[in-house]
Amino acid sequence: MKPEIIDAIAPVYEPLIAAPTARLDTPTTNSHSESQPSPSVNTCASPKPKKPLFNTKYKLQHTDLHRNSVLTHGTNEQDRMVAQHYLLRTAFRGEFLAPIQSALKKGCIVLDMGCGPGTWTMEMSTAFPRSTFIGFDLENVYPHDIKPKNCHFRTCDLTILPLPLPDNSVDFIFQRDMNWYLKAHMWLPLLKEYLRILKPGGWIELVEPDLQTQCSGTMELLMNDKLIRAFSLRQQDPSSARRLASLLAISGFRRVESDFQSFPLGWGWLHQSHRINDSPPCSSDHDITVVGTHRSEFVRAVASQYMFLLKSLKPWLSRFMSMTDEKYDAYIEALPAEWAQMQTYTNWHCATAQKPCQTYLYHTP
Ligand SMILES: C[S@@+](CC[C@H](N)C(=O)[O-])C[C@H]1O[C@@H](n2cnc3c(N)ncnc32)[C@H](O)[C@@H]1O
Repeated sequence: MKPEIIDAIAPVYEPLIAAPTARLDTPTTNSHSESQPSPSVNTCASPKPKKPLFNTKYKLQHTDLHRNSVLTHGTNEQDRMVAQHYLLRTAFRGEFLAPIQSALKKGCIVLDMGCGPGTWTMEMSTAFPRSTFIGFDLENVYPHDIKPKNCHFRTCDLTILPLPLPDNSVDFIFQRDMNWYLKAHMWLPLLKEYLRILKPGGWIELVEPDLQTQCSGTMELLMNDKLIRAFSLRQQDPSSARRLASLLAISGFRRVESDFQSFPLGWGWLHQSHRINDSPPCSSDHDITVVGTHRSEFVRAVASQYMFLLKSLKPWLSRFMSMTDEKYDAYIEALPAEWAQMQTYTNWHCATAQKPCQTYLYHTP
């Protein structure tokens, strides 16, 4: 019997795979798409797959990743992810940076890898009703009943490769905030797998926070150093966010672009640009565009969001810092004053890239 994930996704994929130039007329698309032209939106032609549609050898398995997770799992963590989505959307001025807007409007296939509560998937499927969105996560914390017709969620472990998805079948892959779960050595195989799944000319977008805070005072520095050290001891890369572009380039993607946005931890004002110079002086003369006179709700929310992250990390990080729960709580409660004084901030990085239109075969002599 085919695994559940394959059964569920087959109807979504099959019309597109069987006839790449035909309209995407799936059971889940809304009636508006009936009269629409081809969903095959890439400028490069998608070759018809010669292999079987799905990897039927795949078996769904759950690793013990979550038992070892550094983040606490539960409702608070899901709420934190939802709030984080809206902060990121505000800072990056939209849900995505990849140049895929017109394809999304016409109708294409999009995957949200490690979708969590599915906020990005839900927002995007509402904004682009002609496209089909599928969110994958190890845990089924995503919405089950109330969701747009073109929005699907499936359980899948992204660390078990190959993924049960056909070659050259997807237009856009989005993955955000997965570094908490991926060991350093997992990044390249996973990106190569995404390269396989994407159609020629398809786009990928990766978004990750830099674990290292900037302009940190003594207390933040100590905590941040411990976090980074503990993370590295788990064979996880605390600086993946800064290496997204090179990871994509090494994996075989082209037209790689990267951007970042800075998130002041509770200080500053409402401004149009959240970008702070890459290596600013740790003083009040940061190169930050300040517009308006009110302390921004945005920066308040950023500080509160970061505080929730530290709370989520508590069971793991307090052990590493040899602190009791009470001592850890008192320690993090004292941080906001120091963040404001030092003008501490964090950076989120985003990298976009395209799968080459042509696959080159390299022959060694
Ligand atoms: C920090 S959350 C980010 C959620 C979402 N991408 C967002 O930005 O709101 C990371 C998600 O990755 C999921 N995850 C962790 N390990 C995974 C794996 N091996 N396969 C699939 N999902 C995984 C977790 O369950 C969690 O929902």
